Amino acid sequence: MTRGSLGTAPESADPRQTTRMTVNGETVEREVSVRMLLSDFLRHELGLTGTHVGCEHGVCGACTVMIDGRAGRSCLTFAVQADGADIRTIESVAGEDGSLHPLQEAFRDCHALQCGYCTPGMIMNILSHMEAGENLDMSDQEIRELLSGNLCRCTGYANIVKAVRQVADQSNRISP
Ligand code: FES
Ligand code: FES
Repeated sequence: MTRGSLGTAPESADPRQTTRMTVNGETVEREVSVRMLLSDFLRHELGLTGTHVGCEHGVCGACTVMIDGRAGRSCLTFAVQADGADIRTIESVAGEDGSLHPLQEAFRDCHALQCGYCTPGMIMNILSHMEAGENLDMSDQEIRELLSGNLCRCTGYANIVKAVRQVADQSNRISP
């Protein structure tokens, strides 16, 4: 039986390349297949399993991380494309002492999650807007549009909208 015929997994001929990036403040470097997705790189190479994978084709938003400060789909980005980038994942959001970020507290307070599968992607999307200094003091419709790239099968979105409203109100109190 020759290699690659029935019953034998063909050997991958994918070229490999070194990619080096900053992830949650630490520089990481790995040699990977040029086809490896950033989502798989984060989960399987770095063990950062807080980034979830749902559809793997850019629809659900579960895999959202911050790439150079903006929300991006890690399932639509190759690890080698992220060479030189600054990546942040959900693991970077809480304080080192485990204290929750106000956005995470708002999700908890408003019961804005059930199974939690969509939550890391939601948080990273909203956080990218907060950290870019964009005003979250929006109408419910505008908040829904902000969240339109993140699908949730459980909540019906109403409590997620409430959580965004809570964190926007807090920010207004802190910086009038
Ligand atoms: S897993 Fe990336 S958008 Fe669904
Ligand atoms: S809380 Fe379950 S998918 Fe959103």
